[in-house]
Amino acid sequence: MHAVVATQAGGPEVLSVAEVPDPMPAPGEVVVDVVAAGLNRADLLQRQGFYPPPPGASDIIGMECSGTIGAVGEGVEDWRVGDRVCALLAGGGYAERVAVPAGQLLPVPDGVELIDAAALPEVACTVWSNVFMVGGLRPAETLLAHGGAGGIGSFAIQLAHALGIRVLTTAGTPEKLELCRRLGADEAIDYHGDWPAAVQNLTDGAGVDVILDNMGASYLADNIDSLALEGRLVVIGMQGGRRGEIDLNALLRKRAALIATNLRGRPVAGKSAICAAVREHVWPLIADGSITTVVHQVFPLGAAADAHRLMESGTHTGKILLTVE
Ligand SMILES: NC(=O)c1ccc[n+]([C@@H]2O[C@H](COP(=O)([O-])OP(=O)(O)OC[C@H]3O[C@@H](n4cnc5c(N)ncnc54)[C@H](OP(=O)(O)O)[C@@H]3O)[C@@H](O)[C@H]2O)c1
Repeated sequence: MHAVVATQAGGPEVLSVAEVPDPMPAPGEVVVDVVAAGLNRADLLQRQGFYPPPPGASDIIGMECSGTIGAVGEGVEDWRVGDRVCALLAGGGYAERVAVPAGQLLPVPDGVELIDAAALPEVACTVWSNVFMVGGLRPAETLLAHGGAGGIGSFAIQLAHALGIRVLTTAGTPEKLELCRRLGADEAIDYHGDWPAAVQNLTDGAGVDVILDNMGASYLADNIDSLALEGRLVVIGMQGGRRGEIDLNALLRKRAALIATNLRGRPVAGKSAICAAVREHVWPLIADGSITTVVHQVFPLGAAADAHRLMESGTHTGKILLTVE
């Protein structure tokens, strides 16, 4: 089969399409004939040599895809050849075929195009697991989702809004702030300004109950200050650095929690449990139109370098996809 390979660690130019061996389904796995793959920020880090795949995972980049099942391994009962699926992957998505544990498959939701379904697994699993399973966000509470116009943020806004939760978000341009409002954000704040003051104003000084944070170190102190009593700060990204100082007293006074998690490194059983929860709680909201896919641009697999350049530019909104012809 053909796949995108990185000839060495480096910039987007190291990506090219090459012939590689076809994957075979191990027991409990299926092989998906890939129609589209979603881009994620971690893909950029993997290309640069900073984010190796977990042990046993494909070293081909790509953490999510959509397509049809081409082969079913021993012991897989619930899926058949030809089923239209999308999948959460530990790697291998930028390819014509990928092997995936059956528990990490999701059916393509009603009303979603097969290509667009590649935009769903990472954002749905990341947002549901972090905001609701880990962060424990409840209906009467308030969410602050940083980076609301990105892939993760645009899904977080829609999901929380669909569940009747008040959503505050941050974004970097007037157009992106407007997109966040259209997606259901109650308040969209320009992160170039004094966003912590805006959060205080908009919550009458109470703070927010859960923060979904992509920035890490650079926002750590302000995020903790923005939490309500018993608030939960869930850090999923380190776009603003990895090492920061924590004011334990600030956490302690609020009886607040700081949690940092990662989806890719979880064992298959953990990812499968998240996919099952997403199928139960999130998929109906996609099927009924409460949540839509936000796809910025679709590139052919051979233009993976251009897709990476676009993500690095930060000018996109929502998701960037690759398609397999
Ligand atoms: N831990 C996990 O399991 C996990 C899983 C998936 C993703 N992630 C992480 O989640 C983050 C978002 O991923 P993504 O796929 O949504 O990437 P993306 O589409 O490229 O979005 C990146 C976001 O970062 C925002 N941003 C940039 N500078 C900012 C600032 N100073 N303050 C607030 N926001 C800022 C951007 O906002 P503008 O566009 O408005 O500038 C954009 O919304 C990444 O850090 C990624 O690594 C973690």
